[in-house]
Amino acid sequence: MEIGFASSAAPQAHVVLVNAADMKAAALTGPAGAIDAAGGGALLRALTSGRFEGEAAALVEILAPAGVDAARLLVAGTGPADKADAAVFEKIGAAIVGRFITSGVERVRIDMAGVVGAIPLAEAAAHVAMGAKLRGWRFDKYRTTVKPKAKPTLGAIEIVGAEGAEAFFAPLAGIADGVARTRALVSEPANIIYPESFVEHSMDLAELGVELTVLDEAEMAALGMGALLGVAQGSVRKPRILAMRWNGLEGDSTPVVLIGKGVTFDTGGISIKPAGGMEDMKWDMGGAGTVTGAMHALAARKARAHVVGIVGLVENMPDGNAQRPGDVVRTMDGQTVEVINTDAEGRLVLCDVIAWAQSVYKPEVIVDLATLTGAIIVSLGTEYAGLFSNDDGLAAQLTAAGTAVGDKLWRMPLGEPYDKAINSDIADMKNVGPREGGSITAAQFIKRFIKPGVKWAHLDVAGVVWTSKALPLVDKGATGFGVRLLDRFVADNFETRD
Ligand code: BES
Ligand code: MN
Ligand code: ZN
Repeated sequence: MEIGFASSAAPQAHVVLVNAADMKAAALTGPAGAIDAAGGGALLRALTSGRFEGEAAALVEILAPAGVDAARLLVAGTGPADKADAAVFEKIGAAIVGRFITSGVERVRIDMAGVVGAIPLAEAAAHVAMGAKLRGWRFDKYRTTVKPKAKPTLGAIEIVGAEGAEAFFAPLAGIADGVARTRALVSEPANIIYPESFVEHSMDLAELGVELTVLDEAEMAALGMGALLGVAQGSVRKPRILAMRWNGLEGDSTPVVLIGKGVTFDTGGISIKPAGGMEDMKWDMGGAGTVTGAMHALAARKARAHVVGIVGLVENMPDGNAQRPGDVVRTMDGQTVEVINTDAEGRLVLCDVIAWAQSVYKPEVIVDLATLTGAIIVSLGTEYAGLFSNDDGLAAQLTAAGTAVGDKLWRMPLGEPYDKAINSDIADMKNVGPREGGSITAAQFIKRFIKPGVKWAHLDVAGVVWTSKALPLVDKGATGFGVRLLDRFVADNFETRD
């Protein structure tokens, strides 16, 4: 779908925005007012009889409208002007796309002239474009026989009447491309995306200026990554670690490090999962997908910060060579782990990636993202991701970034009593605690690998990387949760400005 800001050939659908105050006053203004006047008040009568009150992202469609050079007129509400922020304009752009994507309409024009909101008009238009771009993403590549009426028809959106919008949209488009990369990785099945092919798929980040480093099995063995390799040993798919470095600063500086769990399929291993719903475990690489998409976003908009994204890629399978419950493995930093449950594999992958990241990049800040526990879905459902951190300032920065972009985080506790629950009788720790507080003991496990003085946050994203129903900015499927959050977190806290 193309999104532009110039007026061209006559579109089949014309969109105008109407705010709540105009509906209350029963007096349309701006482009809607002009259309209403040309039609002798027909537009206002149509809107009122449709009980339209100008609510944010509410839509009324009028076919064969008078006074418009298009076959369809769509009126979109903005709500009250003082509440019409970036998020509201994104919802409006998304709602418009949702309405037209399979409607037969190919070209849509959105007239933003005179629209009043809580942000400047050019920014408002850029966020309408952002919402449209996010909602317009689809994963259709494996549908060979789509019913004609279910086929996307919408090819182009032009947003007019808001001078300067293009400049505001450029960085947003880069971020939306990062979200799209994440959604594509997460949507792909595990016969297509496995550790080696994940790396292959990500190689084109180099074109954006991202520096890529890949570790193979032999290199990981030489580094002593016994925990990660223990998970990988049951699969014919060879593990990989992919490090993606974006240095948008001159000279040397300590990077912010982002780490993602990339279990490309999680059967549970010998502690095998039940069959029902196991197909969902293709998105157990959601943390890795998010980190990769975030690196795309940062590079695409040339963020003035130094960030390294590292993903640990393995497949967790049962096999004659798979690790057994009770096995003891040695991690890269020398700590030993008794593997009580081979299905608690994410933490085994993360601990070695974190140890490696600290030895190579010496970061002061680490944020890891992982579809780590089913327990976090029990706690928070699919509304919030769980946030665990050893630093209140970092937790506040991440929460604020998430709130700003709609990727919501809820802070969960850490503490010694939870830590004690993973002590092992025969090794330094075991990889699971009791059933209760399962997300917290998982976070405590990771915390044992964070070096003193390092600010660390762990986002348990098991409930939010996939949605079984359409959301305002995304159809059902992969959400891309976390890409915008990480981008905003970097922008607000680590970017240098003139
Ligand atoms: N990948 C799963 C967690 C998960 C579950 C993500 C459901 C998304 C949806 C993880 O590897 C896992 O299996 N965790 C276990 C931990 C348990 C064995 C302590 C779980 O949550 O059941
Ligand atoms: Mn598992
Ligand atoms: Zn898993």
